[in-house]
Amino acid sequence: PLKAVIFDLDGVIADTAVVHHAAWKRLAEEIGVPFDEATGERMKGVDRRGSLEILLQAATRSFTEDEKHALAAHKNDYYRAQIERFGPQDLLPGARSAIEQVRQAGLKVALASASRNAGLLLERLGIADLFDVVVDANRISRSKPDPEIFLAAASALGVAPNECMGVEDAVAGIASIHAAGMAAVGIGQASALAEADLVLPDIAAFDIQMVTTNRTANRR
Ligand code: G6P
Ligand code: MG
Repeated sequence: PLKAVIFDLDGVIADTAVVHHAAWKRLAEEIGVPFDEATGERMKGVDRRGSLEILLQAATRSFTEDEKHALAAHKNDYYRAQIERFGPQDLLPGARSAIEQVRQAGLKVALASASRNAGLLLERLGIADLFDVVVDANRISRSKPDPEIFLAAASALGVAPNECMGVEDAVAGIASIHAAGMAAVGIGQASALAEADLVLPDIAAFDIQMVTTNRTANRR
């Protein structure tokens, strides 16, 4: 039986995928590296340093460790400046309701975010107390698509992985959920998230009855 739902944060609950994207784009322009939508899509769910490496694949020169460190810090400064101004209005429509539906169904709720800014963001959004467990990048060592973060969330909840379902907007995130042995709900375009067991256009379409039924039907 399904006992827990583990949500990603950026792009699922909070409207931050665009903020991360804009911050990387600004950095890319400053260092003269091309940055397109497909590159931005590949960065979703990937940690800060991994995202920088994806960006720098298009660079025509190499960067030292110190330079990379500084570039990642710049990007984070741009991002933080926006997040500092966030409030409950920056929850994606239906996000709070989705989490509350899970709780009301008697299931546990966790957050699995690759972001080191997850704690700040949860406070700003006013939803920190809705989660039984929060696992962020500060508590794990291997980035999505590695299953570590979803397995850590299940373990902290005291629930077996096959009793969990993950909700993700990123290709790397869906892969992480599946590698953890969990069913995956994709949030976004079905074409981009073809690996997910079920794809919803946005978190507002999340219905606990529907995803529970679907999970049973699709059990692999
Ligand atoms: C999430 C986002 C990524 C971001 C990562 C690290 O997974 O989807 O776009 O790169 O978090 O975020 P951070 O806030 O630690 O730079
Ligand atoms: Mg995400």
